[in-house]
Amino acid sequence: MRTKADRKAFPIGATIRAEALARDPYPWYAQLRSREPISWIEELGMWYVTRYEDVRTILMDDRRFTTVSENSLIFDTFGAQMLTSEGAEHERYRRPVQPYFGAGYIRKTFEAAIETNARELAVDFAAGEVIELRSAFAARLPVLTILNVFGMPREAEAHFRKWYDSFEAALANFIGAQEVRRAARTNVEQCHEYFAQIMREFAGRGERDSLLGALVNAPGNARLGDEEIRRNLLIIFFGGISTVEAVILNSLWALLTHADTLSRVRADPTLAAKVVEETMRWHSPVQSATRHVVETTVHGDIEFAAGDTVNCMLGSANRDETLFPDPDRFDIDRANVQRHLGFATGSHSCLGFNLAKAQARIALQVLLSELPGLELMPNAAAPEGYEFHQPRALQIRAPVLRCRR
Ligand code: HEM
Repeated sequence: MRTKADRKAFPIGATIRAEALARDPYPWYAQLRSREPISWIEELGMWYVTRYEDVRTILMDDRRFTTVSENSLIFDTFGAQMLTSEGAEHERYRRPVQPYFGAGYIRKTFEAAIETNARELAVDFAAGEVIELRSAFAARLPVLTILNVFGMPREAEAHFRKWYDSFEAALANFIGAQEVRRAARTNVEQCHEYFAQIMREFAGRGERDSLLGALVNAPGNARLGDEEIRRNLLIIFFGGISTVEAVILNSLWALLTHADTLSRVRADPTLAAKVVEETMRWHSPVQSATRHVVETTVHGDIEFAAGDTVNCMLGSANRDETLFPDPDRFDIDRANVQRHLGFATGSHSCLGFNLAKAQARIALQVLLSELPGLELMPNAAAPEGYEFHQPRALQIRAPVLRCRR
């Protein structure tokens, strides 16, 4: 049995550096999968679990591996909501919102608006100019979409952007900088005030056919408290911005670096859905799901101690060669691609996965149709990062634009 105290038992984990992982985590994941599938990563002070079956087993076991932790930056920033709770409390938070994220509901209610928003963003592009697609398109579409999902006006985009950026800084605030924490608190308060005002409007209308309507106007005991509603809206908002930005950028980058696939998708735009799914496996936007060990737990020949942090490496599980042959190859025809863990699994698996996939697919379709001849600028950066994974910027150029009107 090996514990984290047996430093010599994890030679790869002892040499891994965060900086090298950030540049390109995949060679490290491959080494870990083959020689130290569960490894203590000295520099990060946490376990890495890198094989598909181990990741899946741990994420399914929410009794022994929990999202609840005193040290959780998510809890510190947003308070209690679905991503920091388990069991009955988690169920209470998640059940009422789940129907509004089903594939059918998303298709019928939001797809047309996503397409309109994507086309409107693309209208500002100019032929022949270099376009930085992250700031001009991929970062904006998810904010406009979430405003739509919440039934909030488009004018709120700038506020939501500012709030989001401050929350993201707070969640990366591993050194506990007080000014970052204070700024996020102020922004959480502002965001709560804004939600409260919109919730009053929904209460006045009395409808129950939308996400906010159903939450605010739920009957009797089933209704969450006002603050609980606001905290869960906040995590839904937070969950759906950078992640979607990343899947749009990663999918487009994958396509533009695979000429054969690109010409197939140009000929048949419905293949965009397959591009998105394979990109979720090949360059997963969220590379890890973090859990905390509730009690001493033995898994294979490893003994986790209570309080240990276990990082389930989704990006590595998705390249596990025992499930995905030739895993480093981008191949939209993989028969079992749906088994990827890019949206995690278990009770906390992504609430918004249908919305994310719809946005990425529509974004690709709109960009390919509005910008014929779209190409990557030479030396465009590949996705990077071992927690969140995407190109920092994506420079593209479209020699011609479609005649739009
Ligand atoms: C490609 C885009 C997305 C990716 C890669 C992604 C990834 C994930 C992952 C890996 C988790 C599990 C976290 C964990 O177990 O620790 C998760 C949970 C979650 N996601 Fe997403 N997500 C995406 C888009 C969205 C969208 C669009 C929304 C909402 C609008 C959303 C809302 C949430 C929420 C609320 C949870 C917590 C669920 C729970 O605790 O029960 N996500 N997401």
